[in-house]
Amino acid sequence: MKDIASAWSRPDAVDYYATHRHTTDDLYPSEAVFLPRVLFPGIKVLDVGCASGGLFNIMRTMEPAVDYTGIDIAEPSIKIARERYPEARFEVTHGLKIPFDDGAFDLVHCTSVFVNEPRYQELMTEMYRVCNRFLLTDIRLLKDIKGAEELEQSRYRIKYEGKGDTVTVPYAICDADEVVDFLLTLDPTPNALGGTGYFHAVSEMAETPYAEVCMALFLIQKGNDQITQTELDLSGLPIDFAASHRA
Ligand SMILES: C[S@@+](CC[C@H](N)C(=O)[O-])C[C@H]1O[C@@H](n2cnc3c(N)ncnc32)[C@H](O)[C@@H]1O
Repeated sequence: MKDIASAWSRPDAVDYYATHRHTTDDLYPSEAVFLPRVLFPGIKVLDVGCASGGLFNIMRTMEPAVDYTGIDIAEPSIKIARERYPEARFEVTHGLKIPFDDGAFDLVHCTSVFVNEPRYQELMTEMYRVCNRFLLTDIRLLKDIKGAEELEQSRYRIKYEGKGDTVTVPYAICDADEVVDFLLTLDPTPNALGGTGYFHAVSEMAETPYAEVCMALFLIQKGNDQITQTELDLSGLPIDFAASHRA
């Protein structure tokens, strides 16, 4: 398996995200639910795994006064983003070590990254640190798969538009209750945790024994030292969560 930065720096992957996912029509249905709810004039946004900045273009269509910073590990994508959107800020940075202060952003946004990044707990913790209000992110879930051997066999072959060789990265599917348990332990305790999503057939680029996964989008509202209980609303997710998560 190649390192993930060089995998995402390949011309076919860079081209794909430079030509897709940059208008509101390209949003996944669950993204269209939460994104318009959280944007407000002057909002400071950090987009982790921004590729060539397509989500900046989408966000400013919804809210023109968005103060946007995008980070990505793929240098060629950041180069395109800077040329295309000089009014925004872009940095080549890994999401595990974000070079910004605690609470620097009103919204930390991260889509289509956890699908290939198994270290979701470390990455979420770092994103939660730099957010002061909302963390909006997607992750693939299944029920009761903690420790399943099948997970080890799941891989994702990056190859867009039929060009070039394939390169293999992890295909990360997470245990639904474990993810919610983890999100509830973020420090400070989240004020609210909402989820929406749907089951879909796994991508043609995925090699996994599972036929379907739940694409879940979580909106986490950051708490403060006074918050001891998180307001949970996972009713938008088609998953039978553990009883303690059904409130
Ligand atoms: C599948 S693309 C998604 C692009 C965009 N977020 C979207 O939703 O359309 C994944 C992007 O995340 C970047 N990426 C993957 N892992 C990352 C990490 N740990 N830190 C920063 N960027 C990462 C890749 O380089 C790639 O540009």
